[in-house]
Amino acid sequence: MNLRNLSLTILTAGAAMLVAFSPSVNKTTIATSVKDSIIYGKLPADSGFEKTIKGKQTHLFVVKNKNGMEAAITNYGGHLVSLLVPDHEGKMTDVVLGCGSIDGYVKAGASYYGATIGRYGNRIAKGHFTLDGKDYTMFINNRPNSLHGGKEGFDRKVWDAKKTDNQTLELTYVSKDMEEGYPGTLSVKVVYKLTNNNAVKISYEATTDKITVVNLTNHSYFNLNGESNGTILNHIVQIDADNYTPVDATLIPTGKIEPVKGTPFDFTVTATIGANINDTNEQIKNGKGYDHNFVLNKHGFTTPVATVKGDKTGIVMKVYTEEPGLQFYSGNFMGGANTMKYGEKDKHRTGFAMETQHFPDSPNQPQFPATTLRPGQIYKTQTMYKFEK
Ligand code: BGC
Repeated sequence: MNLRNLSLTILTAGAAMLVAFSPSVNKTTIATSVKDSIIYGKLPADSGFEKTIKGKQTHLFVVKNKNGMEAAITNYGGHLVSLLVPDHEGKMTDVVLGCGSIDGYVKAGASYYGATIGRYGNRIAKGHFTLDGKDYTMFINNRPNSLHGGKEGFDRKVWDAKKTDNQTLELTYVSKDMEEGYPGTLSVKVVYKLTNNNAVKISYEATTDKITVVNLTNHSYFNLNGESNGTILNHIVQIDADNYTPVDATLIPTGKIEPVKGTPFDFTVTATIGANINDTNEQIKNGKGYDHNFVLNKHGFTTPVATVKGDKTGIVMKVYTEEPGLQFYSGNFMGGANTMKYGEKDKHRTGFAMETQHFPDSPNQPQFPATTLRPGQIYKTQTMYKFEK
């Protein structure tokens, strides 16, 4: 019996005890999710996904498609905890990094592993913007800027959750007027669906009662070879973007849109993530690797905006989105401070993110596609990560 099987055996007992001794939770939903969650490996024996935070209960939910693909999602911050995908031999690989408990997510908060990000994904310069002549100030959590919604973004909120069928989890959250400095009460719905063509489709919807800005995204870190299988540097990437938005040393776009041709940002032809990641290019230096917004040539669901292949498993991920931008982040700030769900440390560049979104700092950059939402309008966008073997 190897270590993982052993831990699974211990966990089976632990999870069963948890279900038996938790009178306050809905047993049907939770029994399934806790029991199912053990297949994801080394979850703590007390199943650390059951917690009460500010009076609200967190859980781990599992959705499955007809081909055996499975995803586990917690309503704490809407984190995608695991995503089991078949390779060409039918072997399942968990292709996202994540934590084994809510406490793990609280500790690793600033890394946003698999989190649902809002109200504004990415950076807002100096935590400040003006809307309809009024000034708004956000918390500076990424000096000198505000990142991913501020001090307590949507990734740290307990969402209401409902499994609408075996393949679908619906999360809702109401963000109060002036929460984290953003105007307007924002009602948000995020739906994770595992489709039968092996995609995880994430649909976002939001409405407001006052003018505001919105830029929602998912912050999954992928490793298509699976956790414990080294860095992502040999993953092969293609991004359908002829242009990107260069940044200053604090990762705020300079406002220019520049061609990728002849730079390390040219992924219009396939390249490994590692091929030019240590280039002397100034933009690579600013990002400490890739941490840049790509201006997508096309968006919508007809052609992928990015395709990535895991060099060890051969698993291919195709990204589709209705968003105009893609933040490609190569895990440059990962430093081994957190333990991931199978026991591995989150070492440098062992995961990459492809955050589909509007451009960073759009509220301060009128030449970028607008992120303003007004009362009566509905913010609606979808992104799909589709897996092939
Ligand atoms: C940002 C990175 C940041 C990471 C984790 C990414 O979206 O662009 O700079 O380190 O999120 O917070």
